[in-house]
Order: sequence, then structure tokens, then C-alpha cells
Amino acid sequence: MIQPTQRKRILSGVQPSGKLHLGNYFGAVKQHIALQEAGECFYFIANYHSLTTVQDRETLGQNTRDVALDYLALGLDPGKTVFFRQSDVPEVTELAWILSTVTNMGLLERAVSYKEKVEKGIDASVGLFYYPVLMAADILIYRSHLVPVGKDQVQHIEMTQDIAGKFNRAFKEIFPIPDFRLDKESKVPGLDGQKMSKSYGNTIEIFAEGKALEKKVMGIVTDSTPVADPKDPSRCNVFGLYSLFATGEEKAALAARYQAGGIGYGEAKKALLGKITGYFASAREKRKDLAGRPDEVEGILREGARRARAEARITIEAVRDAVGIFNY
Ligand code: ADP
Ligand code: TRP
Repeated sequence: MIQPTQRKRILSGVQPSGKLHLGNYFGAVKQHIALQEAGECFYFIANYHSLTTVQDRETLGQNTRDVALDYLALGLDPGKTVFFRQSDVPEVTELAWILSTVTNMGLLERAVSYKEKVEKGIDASVGLFYYPVLMAADILIYRSHLVPVGKDQVQHIEMTQDIAGKFNRAFKEIFPIPDFRLDKESKVPGLDGQKMSKSYGNTIEIFAEGKALEKKVMGIVTDSTPVADPKDPSRCNVFGLYSLFATGEEKAALAARYQAGGIGYGEAKKALLGKITGYFASAREKRKDLAGRPDEVEGILREGARRARAEARITIEAVRDAVGIFNY
């Protein structure tokens, strides 16, 4: 019998598919960091998942290190949170296999994210199709209660609920049915006004700085309203991004200047640049510092894996026993 956990267990994964951008920060990372106070958090770098799209040894390795540094610099506290690489707990792939045997083809065939990725031209590998089962295993192996995610991942959590229910009914009540928690900022605009996303090439990286950052911010697409004319803040990408960093008063003040006219987009972009630089200043320092101490980062991930693996082993042993895989 597995003892129920004392505190609510919160779990989320992030794919190491490149450097994190402002959409990732306001859409996901910020909430993950804040939730560290709300329960027992397990956060991991989903490198097995990334293999469905990143098939280059150096790139996957580099991205994994980048995401670890990004999270630690942005406030992930390894004293509070179990932080690890997905692949350091290989039991998760065994659980995924077992779960796949109670997962209907029809359930996976309805996955919107799979269909969208195939439409975008990503090869329809078996791994890409099976991806939600591995995700269910990620969640269930730590017997998680709450999964903070962006809107695009909600269907995967619903699939996890379905799969967990089926397993519990077919074999034994092992898994709590997890809930999702929707991350607040659901659509951070990119440079071109579409949703900021690596796949649209319209991102501002969290840790961009100097000329590179300036170039990005100055390149945000705006309309051609002359400086003197009134402007509509609700339709301006610069204002949208500025709002993420500003206090209510600062936001109201800039909106009033837009509406009165007399402010050019160049000036608004400078204000935004100042905000981005200031907001991430201490995280940027911390990231540089950590980047120079790779052994320490590796140590944090290994210690996270040790703690995660201990939990995973409890689950996988109960699962093996429940399905009839055991020694005489
Ligand atoms: P990308 O679209 O750049 O590939 P991912 O799909 O890896 O980003 O997203 C990782 C997390 O960041 C998800 O929880 C997702 O919902 C969130 N996210 C990504 N882009 C945005 C955005 N523009 N606005 C809000 N949240 C976002
Ligand atoms: N599929 C998620 C994404 O692309 C990453 C992920 C993998 C995840 N396993 C998970 C998220 C388990 C939450 C829980 O964003």
C-alpha cells in the first residue's frame, strides 16, 4: 500500500527545445516558480519528449543545460523543489509502456497537438504519437495531484486522467487523478503580434542582452501612426509586452500618453527595453554565475534525480505487482 503524500504534489515538465523566451516566462515559468510555496514541487526537463523534434546530440545537450540554467536563475530553489532531467528516471519509460496497454488508439488519435505538429511538417513518428502516454507516465509516476500548464497542454492532462482511471479500474487504485492548473498569461504576443513562439521565429529570449536585445525590441512590428497622433494601446504589441512588466499605474500612464498622442513607438520601445533589462537584471547575473559552475548545476540535477527516482521506484513496484509482473 503506497502511503498518500502529506502535501499536495505539483509537477510540471518543460521541453529543452531552445532558450526560454518571454512567452515561456509569463506563460509558464513564473507560475512554476511561484507555486514552489504551494506544495511539494517536482519540475523536470523533458528531454525524452524533445527527441521527437530535436534529433541532434549537441543541440539536445546544450538546450538541456540552458533550460536548467534558466530555471535556476529565475528562482527555482532546489532546496524546495525536486528538479531533474526526465531521462535520469528511466522507470518512467517502463510505466509509459504499461500505461500504453490501457490507452485506446482513439484517445491518441484525437490529440490536437499531434495533428498540429504533423501539419507543421514534423515527421509523424511513433514517438510523436505516443508522446501523451509518456506525459501521462511523467505525471503518474510521481503520483502528482496538480499539473500547471499552458492551454495547449490541457488535452494531454485530460488524457492522463482517462488513462489513470482506466488503470485504477483495471488493476488497482494506485494513481491519484491529477488536475491541471491553467497558467495565467495565456498569450504573450511576439515581435509580429502573433503568439510568441520558437516555431514562429518571433521571440525575445529572457536572457538576451545588449545589442541583441535592443535589436529585437526595436524590431517589434507597429503600425504607421505618426508620432503626434493618438494611438490605441490595446492594439499595440509594444504596449502589450510593456504591460507584463509594468505596475498598474505605469500601465495607465503609458496608455494615457498613447491616447493623447505625441509619443512615438520608438519611445515606447525604449521604455519596454528598460523594463526588460531591469526586470531580469539579478536573474541575468545569477545565470552568468551559475554558467561558470557547471558541476554545481549537474549536482543539483543529480540530487533531484535521486529524490525523484526514489518516488518513481515506489510507484513502479506497486504497478508491477498490480499487473502481475513479479518474481516468485
Ligand atoms: P514554443 O511555442 O516557443 O515552442 P513551448 O510550446 O515549448 O513554446 O511552451 C512551453 C510553455 O510556455 C508552455 O506551457 C506554453 O503554454 C508556454 N508558452 C509558450 N509561448 C507562450 C506565449 N506566447 N504566451 C503564453 N505562454 C506561452
Ligand atoms: N509536453 C509538455 C510541453 O510541451 C512538456 C511535458 C512533458 C510536461 N511531460 C510533462 C508538462 C508532464 C507537464 C507534465 O510543454
